[in-house]
Amino acid sequence: MVDTPREVHDLEPEAFRREVRSFEFWFEAVRGYLDGLHYGHRPETPEVESSDEDRDRLITVLCNYCVGETAALEGAGGLIQIAPNRATKVFLSTQAVDEGRHLEVLIHRLLELGVANPEEEIACRANRSLMDFRSRVLDFVRSGDWSSALFAQNVILESMEFSVFQMHAQRADPRTREVLQGIVKDERRHIGFGENELGARMRDDARVRVQLIDVRDELDSLVLETFQETMNQIHADRADRIELGRDYLSAVERLGFA
Ligand SMILES: [Fe+2]
Ligand SMILES: [Fe+2]
Repeated sequence: MVDTPREVHDLEPEAFRREVRSFEFWFEAVRGYLDGLHYGHRPETPEVESSDEDRDRLITVLCNYCVGETAALEGAGGLIQIAPNRATKVFLSTQAVDEGRHLEVLIHRLLELGVANPEEEIACRANRSLMDFRSRVLDFVRSGDWSSALFAQNVILESMEFSVFQMHAQRADPRTREVLQGIVKDERRHIGFGENELGARMRDDARVRVQLIDVRDELDSLVLETFQETMNQIHADRADRIELGRDYLSAVERLGFA
């Protein structure tokens, strides 16, 4: 796989705003790592035999990734309606495409694992905390609260997905690993966008910072419960859990509050 051509976190905020919020950048970014893949993994990557118990655990985890990606898809789509300008709407439309693709490759992975009806399976296995988180993101969107909605979606949810997918990829079977590694490359771009937008807003208006701390305080317990559930399913050890927490916190720390 080829990396994203330019590392978005290394760009200065203004360069980020100029370059990243376009389909030109998006196309260049994704074609490098989507070429040659079939539903997120190379066609020749083998399916590895696993025990019934391990397969069942993987299905539960993938179902919940589908819940997270559905939230991200609906959140990104909703954010387009309340975005403050056209450049931002264009970026969010690239993000919505990414999230739809993430959902598609994860559903396809469930089919490969023998799940006959992914829609029903996702509904049965969905984690309550993650469903509550999804509701809160959509509440923020519906109320037109751009800063809170963008923070919940593009910093908290995206960082949670980025951290979990990256960790899970290290221990997953080869097909699942390739699917997750592809998704992580997009999530990094989405987090970069959220940080860039909110960083500028916080510099312009001190009240935004206070508002976002409240959002974080409210959503933290849902994030923690979701993390714990997933970590249990993928048998993460204590060191992994600490690393995961650190990865997640680094995103909010980059915004200037921990
Ligand atoms: Fe995603
Ligand atoms: Fe994303």
